[in-house]
Amino acid sequence: MGKRTLVTSALPYANGPIHLGHLAGAYLPADFYVRYKRMRSEDVIFICGSDEHGVPITIAADKEGINPQEIVDRFHELNKKTFEEFGISFDYFGRTSSPEHHKTSQDFFKVLNDKGVFKKKAETQLYDVKAGMFLPDRYVKGTCPHCSYAEAFGDQCEKCGTSLSPSDLIEPRSMVTGEKPIYRETEQWFLPLGDFQEKLQTWLDTTENWKPNVVGQVKSWLTLGLGDRAVTRDLTWGVPVPLENTEGKVLYVWFDAPIGYISATKEWAQLKGDPDLWQKYWRDEESDLIHFIGKDNIVFHCIMFPVVLMSYGGYVLPKNVPANEFLNLEGHKLSTSRGWAVWLHEYLEEFEPDLLRYVLGTGLPETKDADFSWKYFQDHVNGELADILGNFVYRTISFTHRYYDGKVPAASDFTDQDRKVLGEITRLKNEVESCYEKFLFREAIQKSMSLARAGNKYFTEMEPWHLRKSDVSRCGTVLNTCCQITAALSILFDPITPDACKKLRSYLHIEKAGWQDINEQTLAPGHSVEKGEILFVKLDDEVIEAQRNKLEEQSRQQEEVTQQPDPIKNTITFEDFNKLDLRVGEILSAEPIPKSDKLIKVTVDIGVEKRTIMAGIAKHINPKELSGKKVTVVANLKPRKMMGIPSEGMILMAETPDGQLKFLSADAVNGSVIT
Ligand code: MF3
Ligand code: ZN
Repeated sequence: MGKRTLVTSALPYANGPIHLGHLAGAYLPADFYVRYKRMRSEDVIFICGSDEHGVPITIAADKEGINPQEIVDRFHELNKKTFEEFGISFDYFGRTSSPEHHKTSQDFFKVLNDKGVFKKKAETQLYDVKAGMFLPDRYVKGTCPHCSYAEAFGDQCEKCGTSLSPSDLIEPRSMVTGEKPIYRETEQWFLPLGDFQEKLQTWLDTTENWKPNVVGQVKSWLTLGLGDRAVTRDLTWGVPVPLENTEGKVLYVWFDAPIGYISATKEWAQLKGDPDLWQKYWRDEESDLIHFIGKDNIVFHCIMFPVVLMSYGGYVLPKNVPANEFLNLEGHKLSTSRGWAVWLHEYLEEFEPDLLRYVLGTGLPETKDADFSWKYFQDHVNGELADILGNFVYRTISFTHRYYDGKVPAASDFTDQDRKVLGEITRLKNEVESCYEKFLFREAIQKSMSLARAGNKYFTEMEPWHLRKSDVSRCGTVLNTCCQITAALSILFDPITPDACKKLRSYLHIEKAGWQDINEQTLAPGHSVEKGEILFVKLDDEVIEAQRNKLEEQSRQQEEVTQQPDPIKNTITFEDFNKLDLRVGEILSAEPIPKSDKLIKVTVDIGVEKRTIMAGIAKHINPKELSGKKVTVVANLKPRKMMGIPSEGMILMAETPDGQLKFLSADAVNGSVIT
């Protein structure tokens, strides 16, 4: 362990609010870790900020028809405030649009460029001629070659999940103008990761205690072999490339964003009035750099950013990158576009931070994807926070208050049972420590709760409410023991439920206590204790039901919003069109087909003759309402049999995006030609 620790959490994109998936991945575990270290009075700082560049930001801005700056301003403020309210205790929360960040990331680029680290290569990239711009992969849509989904993105098909490159798309079109993009050559700077393969391997060999899921991913990248990675882009939104004649080029967001950790630390030091202080954390071998991230960020933090740091020189490399897997919600993949997410700022309108901190903590996706459900939330709040931890400490302090005038009673003649439960304090403290050091937060929480469980069981078995009358001195010993456990819990749980622990320590008058005070005799006999209040109230079924309904409703509404008209089909010539014979017709009669739930047999007058047409509209339209309706008929469609009846044409229908069918009618005599 180094002398000091620098903890970072992935900089969240400032294109939307924080949800539970973000929290469980990169923020909550980091905050547990940092608060644990602070309780131990270790030298630790916790740095984060908004990631304000990159295509996700410009897409969000385009969607609302506003400028990217407005988007990042809005979500930077919202997310900063939400983290604060939830008790994510950053020492500093910066943003990558800051002048310090532009300066720092440009300096990195220039130094690496001067050292000859980069390769410059011409690349062909998609270009939108009408818009006069190069297109990021996300800005190209087309038909997926695997599942034929017409709305696949240039980097991924969201229908079948296949990752794509724009050239895979059938009929690609620009999302800016709808035009077919062309390929155009452009020059970019590349970081040749392959050149660093050995150096990376040497460094990785020195690391210890990395999580298997992280080691696995990194190994497989290295085994596949590393290629060149472009670190510049032709875009307008981003940090400008700091070289001559590079107009229209910015740094790739994954080049500048991790440097944001450094620029934010610099800004933190400036605010502290000691501008050089950042160097101690970034440039001294005695500092441990720990990156908390989600699994989709592993390659950037374990390969790309370390290569940047190595090439620059003089920087520490990450000591550990405890990446988490993903969090699912009520058994389904979390999806912001489909409205399947719980937003943290909305959670905070209704519940205390501590409840979610604890419950999410017990179910973190540490080794594999995990599921959060509102039922799980209720079960753990009621069954553990309220029934075990809350119940035990409340019993203890209210009993002390009531029968001992709020003074910790003296203890005498400890029995084996007393000693055993007191022994749990140190035993579990040591185990919890080792869990924190190994980034095993679920287990740290479980073990912390074991102490409350042991205390609660002890209280019940000792029955102090009887001892009070039968054996006063024994009752004092039992209560003294329970007070010591309560004091230990008020410190042990601090990283997990900081608000409740702060309150509890104020009831116990040990506001200043730290980790070293977790022992068997924290509270001297006669130490005064407040009556206090119940720390955790149970959640009713209705409250939980309401949250589940809200989620369902939110995702239903989102589905309506995302229903879009189909894209335009392939171009045809006028000759193609002219082959069609379209006529105005009038429905004379209509009858359902007994064995079909789709088809209706319709007789239509098309002026020159009467036709029998089988129309697949039974689900949408009642046959009784059809006679007299004006319609458009394809009159020269080759007849074909449906349910044994020849259908002599087709009635044109308009299908709305949500799937309803409407007739196309014209106010003209039957048989009129539609041209
Ligand atoms: N904004 C990125 C994401 O949400 C994370 C950036 S982490 C950093 O996936 F290291 F680049 F800052
Ligand atoms: Zn697909």
